[in-house]
Amino acid sequence: MTTAETISRPTIRQTQCFIGGEWIPAQSGKTFDTHHPATGEVIAAVAEGDVGDVDAAVEAARKAFDEGPWRTMDARERGRIMYRLADLIEAEFDELAALETLDNGKPISDSLAADLPLTIDCLRYYAGYADKIHGQTIPVNGNFFTYTKKEPVGVVGQIIPWNFPMLMVAWKWGPALAAGCTIVMKPAEQTPLTCLRMARLAQKAGIPDGVINIVPGYGPTAGAAIVAHPGVDKVAFTGEYKTAQIIMAEAAPTLKRLTFELGGKSPNIVFNDADLDAAAAGSHFALYFNQGQCCCAGSRLFVQEDIHDQFVEKLVNMNNDRVLGDPFSTATEQGPQVDQAQFDKIMDYIEIGKSEGAQCLTGGTADDAGNLYVKPTLFDGVTDEMKIATDEIFGPVLSILTFKDTEELIQRANNTFYGLAAAVWSRDIGKAHYVADRVRAGTVWVNCYDVFDAAAPFGGFKMSGLGRELGQEGLNNYLETKTVTVALD
Ligand code: NAI
Ligand code: MG
Repeated sequence: MTTAETISRPTIRQTQCFIGGEWIPAQSGKTFDTHHPATGEVIAAVAEGDVGDVDAAVEAARKAFDEGPWRTMDARERGRIMYRLADLIEAEFDELAALETLDNGKPISDSLAADLPLTIDCLRYYAGYADKIHGQTIPVNGNFFTYTKKEPVGVVGQIIPWNFPMLMVAWKWGPALAAGCTIVMKPAEQTPLTCLRMARLAQKAGIPDGVINIVPGYGPTAGAAIVAHPGVDKVAFTGEYKTAQIIMAEAAPTLKRLTFELGGKSPNIVFNDADLDAAAAGSHFALYFNQGQCCCAGSRLFVQEDIHDQFVEKLVNMNNDRVLGDPFSTATEQGPQVDQAQFDKIMDYIEIGKSEGAQCLTGGTADDAGNLYVKPTLFDGVTDEMKIATDEIFGPVLSILTFKDTEELIQRANNTFYGLAAAVWSRDIGKAHYVADRVRAGTVWVNCYDVFDAAAPFGGFKMSGLGRELGQEGLNNYLETKTVTVALD
């Protein structure tokens, strides 16, 4: 048995706006506080960017795009610089993991095992793409030579959430940088610190000034200014679908390219012929990982009727064993929710679940491990129309629904305006593929959950998103196609 240790806290280095390669305070002089969720203490005052700061950032990004050298340098050199950024992040692996845990509250073991490795891998994956972006030659009628070129879309606005702060930076920067775009990014107001640290490392790696600009601040001010700015060609956003609706409307006058990665109410389906221990462990992980704050959380657990009792017993035991505590202790499996608003929203849903008549088998209350902790909560007897079965809760609250047969299951699994992810647990490979085919979701996991890879596209059907991130599809969103036709006589 390994003994738990407590990891020491990191030093906070960057707290200002990063514009044109300079660290500068917000024009207003205003700052906002960022907190350590587990204690509520203020850990830093961060520059609160607004319209003027966004204007300056877009100007720097425009200049860097129009004048180069990022867009115009040898593509292979662009790739080499991106590899260097990944190496610099790797060199500060422990420090960055601790900074993520400090700002977000996620257990240090998760930061070390998931956030950091996935961040580094994503940047390396897209670094390798930099010199492999090219068009086609097209046979057209007549005596003409026609070819296409793939060009960077331009200045991109990137607005990210707080649940995987560093990883969202990598998902956004990776394809944008490989394509030759320049960036104005707004990190979430809850978790700006690792993004700012990465900007410093990007500069050290040799990414030219103005290519990456960071404006910390709030959504309706700094975020909205990015969306409205005519100098921004594209907006990539991850967050709530209601925010995406506002962004889509605000982007209409300038017809920006948009990609969205939004929420979900993902069905996680366990058939009676599954390996029940693996399915139970996977279902626990699918929902409780990252304090339940995952866009693809397996929040609707469909269990086949005849295995219900034995399966639920396994889930109850795992919830009772889950270790809540100091995020800096390596023994901790679950930390606090990210902020008071998220905590309150989750507690409201727990009360709604109780009043709707679902049976609360574990949790159902706050936990005194610290500030903003919610006990792992399990609701049984949940029916399709209950709010806890339809709404994204974004916390450690799992709803169990039972089903009899496959056709009924598929209809119910699809009875949602979301379509981000789904999972199937079964030893019958034909049935698993059949369900994977019928479920309207951007990702389907079979006998696993939350398996992410930089090469595998991720995104939503229906109101879970627009476009895909990761893989080649993620890169395409940062490219424009130019068709060139040359008369040959
Ligand atoms: P949000 O969608 O409001 O925030 C995400 C990002 O968008 C933040 O950087 C925020 O500052 C920015 N933003 C907010 N309003 C904006 C606007 N009008 N214009 C431009 N940018 C804007 O999400 P929030 O409030 O943090 O969380 C609310 C709920 O959203 C959660 O409870 C969860 O259900 C869902 N959510 C889903 C995420 C996902 O990964 N799909 C991530 C975060 C939240
Ligand atoms: Mg919001």
